[in-house]
Amino acid sequence: MIFTGFQPNASSKDIRTALTYLLFPWKWHTLIEGEYEQKAHRMLRKFFSADHLYLFDSGRSALESALRALDIRTDDEVIVQAYTCVVVTNAIKWTGAKPVYVDVTHTFTINPAELEKKITPKTKAIIVQHTFGIPADMDAIMALARHYHIPVIEDCAHVIGGEYRGKKLGTIGDMGMLSFGTDKVLSCGRGGALLVNNDDIAEQLEAQYAHIPYPKRRWIIPYLWNFPLFPLGKSLYRIGIGKYFLAALKKLSITGRVIYDREKKGERSHFAVSRLANSLAHILCIQLHELEELNEHRHQIARWYEEEIDRKHITFPPKLTATAYVRYPIVVDTPKELHNFCKKNGILLGEWYDTVIAPNDIVFSNTGYVAGSCPVAENLSSRSINLPTSRHISTEDADTISRMITAFYAQN
Ligand SMILES: Cc1ncc(COP(=O)(O)O)c(C=O)c1O
Repeated sequence: MIFTGFQPNASSKDIRTALTYLLFPWKWHTLIEGEYEQKAHRMLRKFFSADHLYLFDSGRSALESALRALDIRTDDEVIVQAYTCVVVTNAIKWTGAKPVYVDVTHTFTINPAELEKKITPKTKAIIVQHTFGIPADMDAIMALARHYHIPVIEDCAHVIGGEYRGKKLGTIGDMGMLSFGTDKVLSCGRGGALLVNNDDIAEQLEAQYAHIPYPKRRWIIPYLWNFPLFPLGKSLYRIGIGKYFLAALKKLSITGRVIYDREKKGERSHFAVSRLANSLAHILCIQLHELEELNEHRHQIARWYEEEIDRKHITFPPKLTATAYVRYPIVVDTPKELHNFCKKNGILLGEWYDTVIAPNDIVFSNTGYVAGSCPVAENLSSRSINLPTSRHISTEDADTISRMITAFYAQN
């Protein structure tokens, strides 16, 4: 079976590291606090040549803290693209502000012309998402932001190490949010960071960060269990019980979730805004050493798809050179049918994002999105499907996926 999700980055070294924190009592006192938090901080600061960087339990917590550092309050407006994740909407809502959705271009990133139309005197921040790793049109966006004096937060949930005109994504706006969640470029199960590229905002953030606590052990342990249990669950797909095994672990809260049910309803989960746990930072450090290699692998797999998949029925995303695809998005007329066909043949493709605000089982009425207001995002979300690019996808796997997609269209 070929998978797109379920912690696709995890290596045997990550699994061994997670198990040492879970099983060796002499490691338990470093589960939450310890040297790796500082080490991850140093490595990331060096990588981004950043003056100010703060580690968080997740990207969503980093985003909420970024908005709070801008003193965003009730009745303010925060611009965000449609074709995003509900945790972004929630982070805006927790400050009391209203999310204002802007349509995207066919590159899955915010449309600057549409963005300008949505700016009002109440607009206090613009969140710019580099969807799948595709850089947004930062020249146009930064020009607008500077003209209207609105701070920009880059949402780099899908990219770490990508560049735009020679500058690392995350360092162009006033702040850059990073995510180390389950399916991301680097994944320590749950984690995030905030790059602050503006000294005045950094001063605000510094004061706020001093009061941010460490997470509780019981919140972190499920994310460590993801490392040994997800590969086991994946291997059980072969005998038809993998799906049930993984669903049971999730139901029993043995493994950590990407999004909790309460977040899907637009409520806060039990996981409060907190710092990055040391045990997860340890795994992040291992992957940070491999970042270049991981991104190069993603390039290679994307090139394979570009060259090998029959182009007749598919819209391809732009060719990326200075950044890599965390998942390779294609746009088709029959995504569900293609998904089911591939699943029957042992390939689980990704569904980022099959609704304008994902995932598809959220309470949509709580998001404030008005149906029909972002037609391109609605069109893309009803037609997009994504292919894996992670380290365990070999060129043979990419070839199998390419041939499967071609076979689907030959048959239909
Ligand atoms: C576009 C986008 N932004 C932000 C986030 C938040 O990241 P995290 O899962 O680390 O909270 C996610 C992921 O869930 C995302 O997909």
